[in-house]
Amino acid sequence: PPVSLIGAPTDIGAGDRGALMGPDALRIAGLGEALAARGVDVADRGNLDGPRNPWLGPVDGYRHLDQVVAWNRTVMEAVAAELRDGRLPILMGGDHCLGIGSITAVANHCRATGKQLRVLWLDAHADFNTHEVTPSGNIHGMPVACLCGIGPDVLTSLGGSVPSVAAAQVRQIGIRSVDEGEKRLVKEHGLDVYDMRYIDEVGMKRTMEEALAGVDADTHLHVSFDVDFLDPSIAPGVGTTVPGGPNYREAQLVMEMIADSGRLGSLDIVELNPMLDTRNQTARLAVDLVESLFGKSTLMRD
Ligand code: ARG
Ligand code: MN
Ligand code: MN
Ligand code: MN
Repeated sequence: PPVSLIGAPTDIGAGDRGALMGPDALRIAGLGEALAARGVDVADRGNLDGPRNPWLGPVDGYRHLDQVVAWNRTVMEAVAAELRDGRLPILMGGDHCLGIGSITAVANHCRATGKQLRVLWLDAHADFNTHEVTPSGNIHGMPVACLCGIGPDVLTSLGGSVPSVAAAQVRQIGIRSVDEGEKRLVKEHGLDVYDMRYIDEVGMKRTMEEALAGVDADTHLHVSFDVDFLDPSIAPGVGTTVPGGPNYREAQLVMEMIADSGRLGSLDIVELNPMLDTRNQTARLAVDLVESLFGKSTLMRD
């Protein structure tokens, strides 16, 4: 399908400043051109608008809840409009709190069209905190919980149906940093987590086969790509680095296997922070990986 790039220039849910420059860093790294060169019909919708970041402390365990809601409403509407037009939206964040709006739109689209939804959450973090257990109050640590119906009503009911997504529709890959209280919630809600220990033991190939099991012609695959998924040695341009992530080849394999499924329906690229990057290398790596996600492979396989 044709692709639409949507920029959401905000760091409203993050703890470090700078993710608001993510969309332009991806453009400068050539995201649109790379897709066009693959023969993809791509339109850049420009940037969405929303409240500025006041950089205040947490209130009742949330930082900037009202502004997070405003941004997510705008993102949800923009993503929904592209899906309605039969296009494949790429949400360029911005921080990962925007996954709430993006995936809520995707989930509603799947309900309306009778598609099965599978969410692949590529991340160092589970992002399953609540206002009670969060160590930071940063809402980018809470989107998966919110999508699964655990969180403030204004976010859990953003799209009308609660929960937006069932935990059983989500597969988390690359996880290596989960806070104490968050661990309990992840277990309680039966989230399907392929953490780095698992990937070390069984390898990325089998991990991805398992994460993609059951994906069929009726499945809409959503990939939520938090750039901190990648090992910080290759991807320094993020606010919350965690050592011990997938290396270059493992990350390529993830994208190649998703491409092989042929079911990619929507994508988030989030948490890229150009202020912390070196000569835009992390943005360029993200573009390189997106090329694989859209089917680029070595000439050995065509
Ligand atoms: N678990 C930590 C927190 O809740 C970090 C979350 C990082 N999330 C992210 N999307 N980068 O503050
Ligand atoms: Mn993360
Ligand atoms: Mn509560
Ligand atoms: Mn995340």
